[in-house]
Amino acid sequence: MTPEEILDEIAQQTRVCTRCPLHLSRKNAVPGEGNPHSRIMFIGEGPGFYENEQGRPFVGAAGNFLDELLGDAGFKREEVFITNVVKCRPPGNRDPEPEELNACKFYLERQISAINPDVIVTLGRVSMNYFIDKGKISLIHGRDFWSRGRMVVAMYHPAAALHQPSLRNVVKEDFAKLPSLMKKAQAARQTSTVSQDANLDLPGDDPAGNDQPEQLSLF
Ligand code: URA
Repeated sequence: MTPEEILDEIAQQTRVCTRCPLHLSRKNAVPGEGNPHSRIMFIGEGPGFYENEQGRPFVGAAGNFLDELLGDAGFKREEVFITNVVKCRPPGNRDPEPEELNACKFYLERQISAINPDVIVTLGRVSMNYFIDKGKISLIHGRDFWSRGRMVVAMYHPAAALHQPSLRNVVKEDFAKLPSLMKKAQAARQTSTVSQDANLDLPGDDPAGNDQPEQLSLF
């Protein structure tokens, strides 16, 4: 199957999914959208009110800011792939429960395999913690990690920057690093310097390692 076919199949499956209780309150599943061949994939937390209404990711205020951030980094929304760790809206926009994350892994992992991006950008704490178990966003935002042969870059959630104006420039600066991080990721993958389970690039401004997360989850 082509990446397009796999992503279409996943999208159809999410629309009728009953793997977790979130299906009970959803109006529309939000499987994700974008370029099946994108070298970069953006993964948020879960659909909010407008996403649940429209069945599309990041279409509310946070989505408008995400579009601006993508533009600043030289991307158009349709050139990249955007999805969430859970495909149905958690009621009241609460954090997804572990069982919900676990149920939706079935879709996210297949999306990642089908697209096979060089870089995964996590948007917000929940998505970051899916990849980097005990990461702290205030310590590791804008930095690159390697996990299962893929670069993961943790970003503040665009909505956080809307609520906390002091984060706005921080997020913009972090997004501006993406083109060079993509080159770094592509070069590393092409020369096969990244082993399947390697964490080659832990954050380490502090020589004592005090700013490093205690453990990096490799899924
Ligand atoms: N916030 C998210 O994490 N995802 C969306 O799709 C919209 C808002």
